[in-house]
Amino acid sequence: MDLQLKGKVVIVTGGSKGIGEGISRCLAREGAIPVIASRSVAESEQLAGELQDAGIPALFVGGDLSVPGQCRAVVEQTASRFGSIYGIVNNAGINDAIGLEKGGPDGFRSSLDKNLHHYYGLVHFALPYLKESRGAIVNVSSKVALTGQGNTSGYAAAKGAQLALTREWAAELLPYGIRVNAVLPAEVMTPLYETWLKTAFKDPEAKKKEITARIPLEKRMTTKEEIADMVAFLLSPRSGHTTGQWVVVDGGYVHLDRSIT
Ligand SMILES: NC(=O)c1ccc[n+]([C@@H]2O[C@H](COP(=O)([O-])OP(=O)(O)OC[C@H]3O[C@@H](n4cnc5c(N)ncnc54)[C@H](O)[C@@H]3O)[C@@H](O)[C@H]2O)c1
Repeated sequence: MDLQLKGKVVIVTGGSKGIGEGISRCLAREGAIPVIASRSVAESEQLAGELQDAGIPALFVGGDLSVPGQCRAVVEQTASRFGSIYGIVNNAGINDAIGLEKGGPDGFRSSLDKNLHHYYGLVHFALPYLKESRGAIVNVSSKVALTGQGNTSGYAAAKGAQLALTREWAAELLPYGIRVNAVLPAEVMTPLYETWLKTAFKDPEAKKKEITARIPLEKRMTTKEEIADMVAFLLSPRSGHTTGQWVVVDGGYVHLDRSIT
C-alpha cells in the first residue's frame, strides 16, 4: 500500500530513540521527511546523518522540549528549511515516577512540563502550516492513561490529557481537514522501558518474563516497528476518514478478556 507520504515533512519529537526512532525510520522508508526534535544529540545526529546519506533530507533540531521557547524554535527551523509542515508526531516523554507520596506539587508540575505541555506547544505553533497542508497529528499516549500504573501521577495525568486533547483537537480542527489520532503502546522494549524495569524491580528479567507471559497475542512485547507502522498509517491520507481515535497497539494486553487469555 502506498501511504502517499512522499515528500511530506513530519516533526517527530523524541525521534531518534525507542519508539520515536522506529517512527522516523518508518516515515523515511515511506519517502516522508522526518524532522527529529530531541534532546538526545548523539543518537539524533547519527540517525539524521544516516537518513541524509540514504537521500532523505532529514533534519535534527536539538533541545529540551520542556523548556519554554523550544516548541516555537522547532517549528521555525522546520519551516525555514522546508517551507511546509504536514505532520506532527508528539512522542517525547518520560515515565518519571512522580507519585502521590514522591514528588509533591512541584514534581507534578515538572512532570507535566516533560510529558504534556510540549504536545500542546508544538501543535499550537505548527497550526498555520498544518492548515495549509491539511495535515495530520498523532499523539503517542500510553496504556497508563486507561489502566493507571501506581506511583506515577504526573505521567498518568499527562497521558490521559493527551487522549482528551486528541478528541478536543479533532473537533476543533475539523473545518481545516486536519485529522488527530492517538496511539497507545503498552509494552515496547525501548531505552525508557529498560530503565523502568531496572529501577522499579529487583529482578528485571523475571519481571519482563512475567509481563510478556500476560500479553495475549503471541506472548511477546510489541515492537517499535509495529507502533511506527500504525503511526505512519494514521498520519497518511490512506486513513483519510479517521479522526479523534485512540488506537491501542498492544497485542490485546489492555482489552482482551482475562478469562480466555
Ligand atoms: N516503551 C513503552 O513500552 C511505552 C509504553 C507506553 C507509552 N510509551 C510512550 O512512547 C513514547 C516514547 O517512549 P520510548 O519508550 O520510546 O522512550 P525513550 O526514552 O526510549 O525515547 C524517548 C526519546 O525522547 C527524548 N525526549 C524525552 N523527553 C524529551 C524532551 N522533553 N525534550 C526532547 N527530547 C525528549 C529522549 O531523550 C529520547 O531520545 C513516550 O511518550 C512514552 O510515554 C512507551
